[in-house]
Amino acid sequence: TEFLPLKGKKILITAGPTYEPIDPVRFIGNHSSGKMGFDIALEAANKGAEVILISGPTHQKIQHPRVKVIPVMSANQMYDACHKYFEDTDAVIAAAAVADYKPKIVADQKIKKNAEEFVIEMEKNPDILASLGVIKKEQFLIGFALETQNEVEFAKQKIKKKNLDLIVLNSLNDEGAGFGKSTNKVTFIDKDFNLEPKELKSKEEVAKDIVNKIIEHYA
Ligand code: PMT
Repeated sequence: TEFLPLKGKKILITAGPTYEPIDPVRFIGNHSSGKMGFDIALEAANKGAEVILISGPTHQKIQHPRVKVIPVMSANQMYDACHKYFEDTDAVIAAAAVADYKPKIVADQKIKKNAEEFVIEMEKNPDILASLGVIKKEQFLIGFALETQNEVEFAKQKIKKKNLDLIVLNSLNDEGAGFGKSTNKVTFIDKDFNLEPKELKSKEEVAKDIVNKIIEHYA
């Protein structure tokens, strides 16, 4: 018989990059492959959870009766999808690399290469996780922090700013951590600022550690 400690729990997971359009053929994106979020989704479903996986553009594949994939393109679309499902959700894990800024104007037609210089004016995207932190009730909110300097300090600030229960810090200074790779090296920081550094391991194993945090929370 299966051990399904998350049976009946609804978990919302974000994954992948967002693409912010410049014109009909171009966008501003980032290096997220979606693997971290998809590995978490599969692990949560294997532990019995009903998973809503809201993902930016990715080549990742997932096939599980308890995982529903909602594909999105931009940060605004991811925001709308997250808010559509949030109320009916028990926990959130935000692994997506959401663009902080988007082009202010999206050209209707392909931009021609006439000028020698071309400037794209950007404006802020909504902070999806912070907006969920504002309206959360009983939901257990897990965010990621991807840093390149001052890692622990910036991660702690994100816990406060986004009203999180837990943050998963990964640093691009650690070999084998972050984008694209099949491994990651993370440190958990809870809302009382307790640090729990983990070894470098496969993203599947990191996903297990993260899902275990939710299982412990409900135990
Ligand atoms: O997809 P992979 O190739 O497997 O790589 C995995 C990963 C490196 C993308 C992943 O482990 C990771 O760190 N994801 C978060 C990346 C990120 O954008 O971090 P951040 O520190 O900028 O954002 C902090 C948190 O706020 C994140 O949970 C993010 O999803 C969320 N956020 C950020 C900006 C925004 N406008 N809205 C958000 O919800």
